[in-house]
Amino acid sequence: MHEWDIETEDDNEMIAHFVKLIAAGSLLVTKFENLCGKKLTPAQKKGLHGHDIAMRALAYEAMDKEMALLYLGEIGSHLQSSTRKAILACKGYIFNRRPMASTGQLYTPMYYVFRGAGVYCGKAFDVSRAGASASMKRENEVSESVHSDQACPTLIKVLDAFHVGQHAVLILPLLAKSVADLLAAASPGVVDDEAPAYVAAGVLAAMAGLAAKGWCHGDIKPANIMLEAGNEKRIVLVDLGACTRLNEEIMEFTEHYALDLPMIASLRWDLACLASTLCVLIGIPVKDSSVQGVISYLTSLGDDLSFGGQLALHILKHLDKVDNVEQLRAVVWDDVMERVRGRLGEVHASTLAAWWPSPL
Ligand SMILES: Nc1ncnc2c1ncn2[C@@H]1O[C@H](COP(=O)(O)OP(=O)(O)O)[C@@H](O)[C@H]1O
Ligand SMILES: [Mg+2]
Repeated sequence: MHEWDIETEDDNEMIAHFVKLIAAGSLLVTKFENLCGKKLTPAQKKGLHGHDIAMRALAYEAMDKEMALLYLGEIGSHLQSSTRKAILACKGYIFNRRPMASTGQLYTPMYYVFRGAGVYCGKAFDVSRAGASASMKRENEVSESVHSDQACPTLIKVLDAFHVGQHAVLILPLLAKSVADLLAAASPGVVDDEAPAYVAAGVLAAMAGLAAKGWCHGDIKPANIMLEAGNEKRIVLVDLGACTRLNEEIMEFTEHYALDLPMIASLRWDLACLASTLCVLIGIPVKDSSVQGVISYLTSLGDDLSFGGQLALHILKHLDKVDNVEQLRAVVWDDVMERVRGRLGEVHASTLAAWWPSPL
């Protein structure tokens, strides 16, 4: 007999602890089933157990029916192990078991993906969800058209796209954190001038690359703007699934950032969403505001208006003068570069200037 075969008092305590944990877990599952009004499949139960945020919300009684149904949709769209095996067999990608956590993400689970010595981001669309397949196709199509003959370093580039089982998958370069994550970490008003300068330049350059090929992003907001890790700072605009052809009606957007513009795809629309994002970044709320309302508020701050606010004000004041890429460059980009040079110096200004799209 080995010493580890003996059940000590400590072992008994530990076993009792695990029994309690399992009982608490199944109680939470029952609570979740009651909220959703249906029994979960074993795979959904497993998914719920692995969903820390949902389990915590249940434990703290902080979940209502609407939220439970949202989480159920999210759990249902996670990759099952059979799909992960199929992806490995046919494409050679190793998908992490659990999706990554991020602020502002509900429906499209993103995974760490490995192949060879590389690590990527895998965006897995559940094609049984309405619009998911179209969204994946659109993201791939826009990326191909923008990156085909121009260098556009601040717009996400799809590296691979394929279908497996009920999932459509995009492989993307792995980026670190979104501006929404930054906002979640920072108290209002503590973000310094470098962040709005880089966000403005990165998004303007991405917008130029898109517009050169006839696209409007349509959903520019903190959760769709990524920051790169490390010392070589870079902004990348992501989420091309809702891109719309210029002059067509915009179907998918985040109302919070669109101010009161008509829902027509244009550079004006993307510029207004960028200006709203800059305001939110420096702690100025824009919900339910109009373009004129935000201009008046920013103007009223006078000398107290921070650098990010000054960039937003310039953009909003010149919305009507921008209808094509040349005007975007002459009316907004050159002015932003000049202001960055004055505020942050030549080194930052030349880093950002290199982001403007150039022919390959
Ligand atoms: N390439 C990437 N690397 C790391 N995280 C990413 C990447 N692209 C997006 N994300 C994160 O995943 C979230 C959802 O991605 P997104 O493309 O916006 O999909 P959705 O259509 O679900 O909004 C983003 O808000 C961001 O936090
Ligand atoms: Mg998004």
